[in-house]
Amino acid sequence: MSSQGSGGGPLRIRAVTEDDLSHVVRLDAAAFPADPYPFFVLRQLLTAFPEFLLVVEDSAKDLRGYVLATPPYDAQSWILSLGITPELRRQGLGRELMTRILGLLRAKGTHSVWLSVEPGNDSAVALYRSLGFVPEPQGPRLDYFGPGEHRLLMSLAL
Ligand SMILES: CC(C)(COP(=O)(O)OP(=O)(O)OC[C@H]1O[C@@H](n2cnc3c(N)ncnc32)[C@H](O)[C@@H]1OP(=O)(O)O)[C@@H](O)C(=O)NCCC(=O)NCCS
Repeated sequence: MSSQGSGGGPLRIRAVTEDDLSHVVRLDAAAFPADPYPFFVLRQLLTAFPEFLLVVEDSAKDLRGYVLATPPYDAQSWILSLGITPELRRQGLGRELMTRILGLLRAKGTHSVWLSVEPGNDSAVALYRSLGFVPEPQGPRLDYFGPGEHRLLMSLAL
């Protein structure tokens, strides 16, 4: 990919490895400070589905972003998480990660992709809309992730 890291070096997208776990935990906590995935959940997802966790690595081998999806089940997949380190946002990395994971899911037999997003997360909703994701017509599902944690569900036909 053509994006440059903060130090000016090239960035690359690759599948996660076991050694990346603590860095993915850190990225997830930075992206979702109020509600990060517990360490053990990321551990189990990484172990079970390493092919579906892509990371952005800079020239110093630091991880700067990640996307996590589920393998297809009944031809359906979910994007579980997406995060870009704050200093590298708005440079096309989120779009690049989504494009890469959607291509992988398509190749693996996914026909529809779902995700949930906090309704006020305008940047994420704009990104997903620009990729063709469509929100459920009834609007956000109330208390989807617990009391007060409403989420907009969006889907994309591949
Ligand atoms: C959402 C997030 C992943 C976007 O990553 P990014 O690398 O900054 O996004 P990109 O640069 O690829 O932008 C792609 C599109 O997203 C939208 N977008 C991204 N940031 C935006 C912002 N601050 N305001 C408005 N739209 C924005 C735009 O449509 C943009 O396209 P454009 O640049 O052609 O206008 C990033 O902001 C992030 O990590 N946020 C915290 C974690 C999070 O909310 N994850 C999603 C949870 S569902």
